[in-house]
Amino acid sequence: MTNMKQTGLRKMTIRRASLHAVTVLGLTFVACTPSGSAPSDTETTVQTPELLIPATATLERVGELLYDPMADSIHPDPRMASMIRLGFQISQDPQTYASEFVGNDLTCGNCHLNAGQRDRALPLLGVAATFPQYRRRDDRLVSLEDRIGGCFKRSMNGTAPPYDHPVMLALDAYLNWLSEGFAMGERPAWLGQNEIAVEARIPIEELDVNGGEELYNLHCAPCHGLDGQGIDLILAKPGPLWGPLSWNDGAGAARIWKLAGYIKHAMPLTAPGTLTDEEAQLISAYVNSHERPEYPDKESDFPDGTRPADAVYDTLVFSTHPLMRAEGRQP
Ligand code: HEC
Ligand code: HEC
Repeated sequence: MTNMKQTGLRKMTIRRASLHAVTVLGLTFVACTPSGSAPSDTETTVQTPELLIPATATLERVGELLYDPMADSIHPDPRMASMIRLGFQISQDPQTYASEFVGNDLTCGNCHLNAGQRDRALPLLGVAATFPQYRRRDDRLVSLEDRIGGCFKRSMNGTAPPYDHPVMLALDAYLNWLSEGFAMGERPAWLGQNEIAVEARIPIEELDVNGGEELYNLHCAPCHGLDGQGIDLILAKPGPLWGPLSWNDGAGAARIWKLAGYIKHAMPLTAPGTLTDEEAQLISAYVNSHERPEYPDKESDFPDGTRPADAVYDTLVFSTHPLMRAEGRQP
């Protein structure tokens, strides 16, 4: 225990030291931390929310960054700096910067809020240092590039850029930059937190989609629209939650409990974190009860046979979609 704490402290100190170094150079990204001041080295907790934009931040802060890749002198090598910036730009606007690999209207930043710099919204800070890792869905060792490619194929309903393609390399550069100062192989406490606790999970078949629709119309439609396609809010435009321009049925977000974990902790952006576990699951069931693109390779996921119980589109888990609303529609 003590050991873990000490290691965590060391890691944070390294990260903070590099932030201080940047402050000395006269740059601005430390100045926009939530507290408005540079982090202090005297705090010792491993889970340090000040390294991330807080989970409670509302719509006004949707464009905020703690680590701004567009700031001057982010890297001594200007070629590296420009790849880090390109990676950030791809994550915010893949339709412009990576169009050949994208098959829908979503951006990485729609789901990984504040370009992966926000707590409880699928943060990407420190994630590069956790690869390679074994994943059940693939049943083999996966690299960061595999994982990025996975989000392209599923969440973006597109194709994975080749490992040596500038799009992949630039995203690699941005994510590695977000992991500077983190110890290799250590998992920051904020990763994997967009979950519904096992004991709070409601069996999929018991989720009432009509109840979910009412909650959606109340809490979500003001920004996402009754049609789920997203309203331009000037500060940001949410991506489509369903339909042909949304994530496909092989995406993590197509799984009811997984999406509920996101909704519960990251939405609604008027008051994130205020929905109950049940409300989040009902809304998730409603969102995922709509039609969306089909992921062609989903039958080869989870080759060890232990398929997740919330993958409603997976015909090996459910023979027909248990929540699909439109009559006579099959998965
Ligand atoms: C529809 C929402 C969505 C979009 C769009 C999306 N992702 Fe993800 N991403 C997820 C979810 C959900 C997970 C976590 C899945 C899980 O828990 O297994 C994830 C996981 C990741 C991870 C691994 C994080 C970890 O904690 O191990 C990386 C890296 C990543 N995404 C990168 C990207 C990139 C790059 C893009 C854009 C090309 C992108 N994502 C677009 C939803 C999305
Ligand atoms: C105040 C406006 C607002 C409300 C209310 C809101 N959202 Fe969002 N939501 C957003 C914005 C803006 C984004 C994209 C953020 C970005 O791109 O930086 C987003 C992103 C998402 C995403 C990521 C995928 C996508 O399509 O963009 C999901 C899923 C989501 N919201 C679900 C919900 C649900 C479910 C509710 C209701 C419980 C909800 N939101 C309420 C503004 C809102």
